[in-house]
Amino acid sequence: MKTARKKPPSPSGAELWARYRKLFPKYFWGEETRLASVVISRAHGSTLVDADGREYIDLTSQWATNNLGHVHPDVLRATTAALERYGFLIYFMNPHLPMLELAEKLLEVRPSPNLSRVFLELSGTGAVEGAIKYAVEVRERPVILGFMGQYHGLSIGTGMVGALSSHERRHWEAYGGGVVHAPYPAGSRRPVGMGDEEYGGFVLDYIRDQLLRHVVAPDRIAGTILEPVACEAGIWIPPKSFVRGLRKLCDEFGWVFIDDEVEAGVGRTGRMWSIEHFGVAPDLVAIGKGISGGLMPIAAVLGTDELMAERDVAAGTTFGGHPAACVAASTTLDVMARDRLVERSAKLGRAALRRMGEWTGYDTVLDTRGLGLCLGVEVGTRASRTPSPETARRIFFDCVDHGVVPLYNYGDTVIRVQPPLTITEPELEGALDVLEAALRRAAT
Ligand SMILES: Cc1ncc(COP(=O)(O)O)c(C=O)c1O
Repeated sequence: MKTARKKPPSPSGAELWARYRKLFPKYFWGEETRLASVVISRAHGSTLVDADGREYIDLTSQWATNNLGHVHPDVLRATTAALERYGFLIYFMNPHLPMLELAEKLLEVRPSPNLSRVFLELSGTGAVEGAIKYAVEVRERPVILGFMGQYHGLSIGTGMVGALSSHERRHWEAYGGGVVHAPYPAGSRRPVGMGDEEYGGFVLDYIRDQLLRHVVAPDRIAGTILEPVACEAGIWIPPKSFVRGLRKLCDEFGWVFIDDEVEAGVGRTGRMWSIEHFGVAPDLVAIGKGISGGLMPIAAVLGTDELMAERDVAAGTTFGGHPAACVAASTTLDVMARDRLVERSAKLGRAALRRMGEWTGYDTVLDTRGLGLCLGVEVGTRASRTPSPETARRIFFDCVDHGVVPLYNYGDTVIRVQPPLTITEPELEGALDVLEAALRRAAT
C-alpha cells in the first residue's frame, strides 16, 4: 500500500538568504552594497511576497524596470505565445516580424523626428555601449564628455563614461582615457549660494573655458552623454537652460548628443522620455529597463540616419532583439498607450510630490524632488543641512520592517520612490504613510 508522501516544508527566508550568500559574489550581499535581506517567493502587481509569506509594496519596480507592475498578464500572454511560435532567432541573420513591429512602435513614440533608426540590444549597458560606438566611429573622434554622478552601467566602457562613485571605478580609473567629465549641474553638491540656473551656466562655461581650452580640443570630442534626470545620483534634475546649452555646444562642435533614458524613460518621469521636459532633440537615445514591462531583457538605441545608415558600426549581441522580448516590448507600449500610463505617472507623481513637500518640516528631511513617479527624499540633519547615509540606511530598513521597499543604494542619502506606473492610489498612499512614519521616527 502506498503511503502519501508528506510535502517537505518550504525553505525559510533565512535558509534561502544563507544559500544566496554562499553562492553569489560578495558585491550583491556584502555590507557595502546589501539592500534588504528579503528572498522573494512571488510577485504580482506592486506586491512582493517573501519566502516567509510577508507582503511588501515595491516602490522600486525592481530598479525602475517593472513599470507595468510584476507579471503583467497581457505582456505575459503575448510573450509566452511568441516564445512558442519563434523560440529564439538571431536578429541580424533572420530578421523577424516582432523586431520590425517593435522598431516601428518605438519610432512612433520617439522624442524627436530626427530619430529614424533602431538598434536592438539586451541591456541598458549594451545600449549605452552601442550608442558610444556609433558616436565615436561615425565622428572618428576618440573622446566622450560625461558628467559626474551619472550612472550608465558597470561594464568597463559604461563604467568609465559614467562616474557615479569612485568606489565602483576603483582599479579601472586608467581605462577612462577616452572620457572627460564635467560636474552635473544639480544635486546637493551645488556650490553654496549658487542657484540652479547659475550652476547650469557655470558648468557650460567650465566646459567651454576650461575643458575645451586646457584638456581636450572640441574637434576631438565625438559626443556627450546625459541622463536628463539622473536617477542613481539621487534624482537630480538639471535646469532647462543647461540641457539646451549642451545641445548648442553639440551643434557648434559637431558632437553627438546621447540621451540615456535607460532608467528615466518609458513614462517614468511623467513624459514618455525624460528629455521631453527640456525641449531638446537628441541624436541617440539609449532605452532599456521598463521597455519590456520588466518581463524580458531587451534594450534599444534610437538614432539618426546620419549615425546609423551611412557607416558600418560593429555593435550588437547574440540575444539582442530576441523575438519574445520584442513582443514583450511592443505589448508594453500598447498597454502604456491603452491605459494612459504616462499621464498616470505624471498625475500620481504630482500628488505624491505635493505630499512629500510637506515632509520638509521633519528634522530628517533636507529635500524632496522628482518628476512623475521618479521621486526622492534627501535625508540627514536639517539643522546643519548635512546629508546622512546612516539616517538613510535606518529609514530604509524601517520601511522594509513595515512592509514597504523603497529604492535605495547602500551609502546614499536619498530614499527613492519609483513604483510601478500601475500602482493603485491606496497602495501608493499606504506606502508613503510608512515612509513618512519612518522619517518621523528617524528624527527621534
Ligand atoms: C541611466 C542608466 N543607464 C544605464 C544603465 C544600465 O542598465 P542595465 O543595468 O540594464 O545594463 C542603468 C541601470 O541602472 C541606468 O540607470
